This record gives sequence, structure tokens and C-alpha cells, in this order.
Amino acid sequence: MKKVEVAVIPAAGLGTRFLPASKAIPKEMLPIVDRPTIEYIVAEAKASGIKEVILVISDRKQAIIEHFKENTMLETMLREDSKPDLAALVNEMCDGIKITYVDQKYPGGLGHAILVTKPVIQDRPFVVLLGDDLVINDGGLPVTKQLINEYEKLGASILGVQEVAQSETSKYGIVDPVTSGNLTLIKGMVEKPISNPPSLKAVLGRYLFTADIFTALEAVPRVPGKELQLTSGIEILLKQAPVYAYTFTGFRYDVGDKFGFVKATIDFSLKHKEIAAKVEEYLKSLK
Ligand code: G1P
Repeated sequence: MKKVEVAVIPAAGLGTRFLPASKAIPKEMLPIVDRPTIEYIVAEAKASGIKEVILVISDRKQAIIEHFKENTMLETMLREDSKPDLAALVNEMCDGIKITYVDQKYPGGLGHAILVTKPVIQDRPFVVLLGDDLVINDGGLPVTKQLINEYEKLGASILGVQEVAQSETSKYGIVDPVTSGNLTLIKGMVEKPISNPPSLKAVLGRYLFTADIFTALEAVPRVPGKELQLTSGIEILLKQAPVYAYTFTGFRYDVGDKFGFVKATIDFSLKHKEIAAKVEEYLKSLK
């Protein structure tokens, strides 16, 4: 069985939910305390043993490329200025991982964003991490590593899920599981059901795919002007190959949503060694 060492992070979206902040700055670069959201996602991939990250971007996302580029001049300047701690931070995120970029020439949907990576991924199994879903599993395995561990037993595609409230099911891809339990085969998936969701298990931004997903995505009938949904590809895939849903452990923040972003900012600042005590005191002082 091939090892899972490559990750795809789609980051070409327009970020309309964060306008006007995302007009000139990619929404993936908006910081939670002092790190851009995309850095937390790349860090999760790295901590899960991923060696290569493919960022799917558009031409408006140059800042992301700059962020992950090694900047030796800045590092040297900070060292000469006796700021070794800051110097260490500058290039830390590019160490030990290869980051490449694939251009998504038009906003064709999540399925399209995955499909454009086919020439780079070829026949390798890979994980997909969505930047809007930040999952924290303090002291435990990162969610991507949890999926990889299951893959090593199953050798099949796996979707990372968690149960959501009935009222929330219309926001997510919802799986139709064969059995209850933390790991189950699925027999269907519905994208954002308005009524009668097949279960409460929602796909929350983590996927592990065998390369069969590419042929499945190519087989999705295209409707001019309509996005190619990843869920449509998964619906075809599960008719040809086993697809599992795995209920992962971890707390998920929807940082693509303003309230989710603020919640993450508060929680992360309460864990940040420089400011935690001050933030706690400030929050207590609020009525
Ligand atoms: C996408 C997927 C959806 C999934 C969600 C996870 O939706 O289409 O199936 O449940 O991400 O966050 P989006 O939130 O991009 O509309």
C-alpha cells in the first residue's frame, strides 16, 4: 500500500464572507492571533507526516506564496538584531515540507479544485484539508493523522465526520452511513440537504482519497455555469469503491464564518504564552 504523504489545500476561493478584509488580502492570510489561518492547516498536515502540500490558488493569492517562501534576508537581519526567537519563526513553516502551487484558473467549485491537482498527484493516495475548518485535538493525534491511521488499515477513501445538530445539516455534506459507530462504510452522501438528512454525520473539511476520486470527478455530468461539487464526485466514487466515514476526535472551528473566527481568536489567545493572562483578565472584566 502506498503511504499517504501528499496533501491538497484548496485556497483559491474568493473569500466573500470576509469582505472587505479579503479584498486585497487572501482570507487564508487573515491571522488568528499571530499566524495566518492557512499556517495552522499546513502545520496539521506536517504534524501528520505529510511531506508535500499542494496549495490550489488563483492569481489573487500571491501573498500565500510569499508567506511560504524562505526569506533568508529577513531571518539574517533579525539574528543580527539579536532577535533569535523572531528569526526562528520566519522560515519555520517552510522547514521539512515541500510546498507546491497549482493554479485554479476559474472558481469552478471544490471538486474542480481537487481535479486540477490530478497531474501532480497522479496515482497517489492523498488528503484534503479545507482551510475554513480548523481542528484542534490538544494532546491527541491531529485529525489528518487519524484519517491516515485508518487508511493504513482499510486502503480506501475515508471522510472525516462529526455529528452536528439537525438544524446545522443544511450547511454540510451529510453522509448516509451503513452502520452506526465511529467507522462505517457509507452508501450515499448529500450536499447541504434542506430536509431529511440521511444522518447527522457531517463532513467537516478533512478527506482522504485514493486516486479513484479523479475518475469519479471527471464522470460528474457538467452543467454550464454550475460548480463541480466534491460531493458529486464522492457519490460516483462510492458506487465503484468502498468509501468510509470516520468520526474524528477534535474540536472544530469554522474559521470561514465570522463568529467561528472570533471564537478561534479568543480560544487561541487564551493559550498564547505572551498574552493569555492579559486576555483572560480582560474577558473577566467584561460585563
Ligand atoms: C464544503 C463541502 C461540504 C463540507 C464543508 C465542510 O462546503 O462542499 O460538503 O461539509 O465544506 O466545511 P463549503 O463550506 O465550502 O460550502
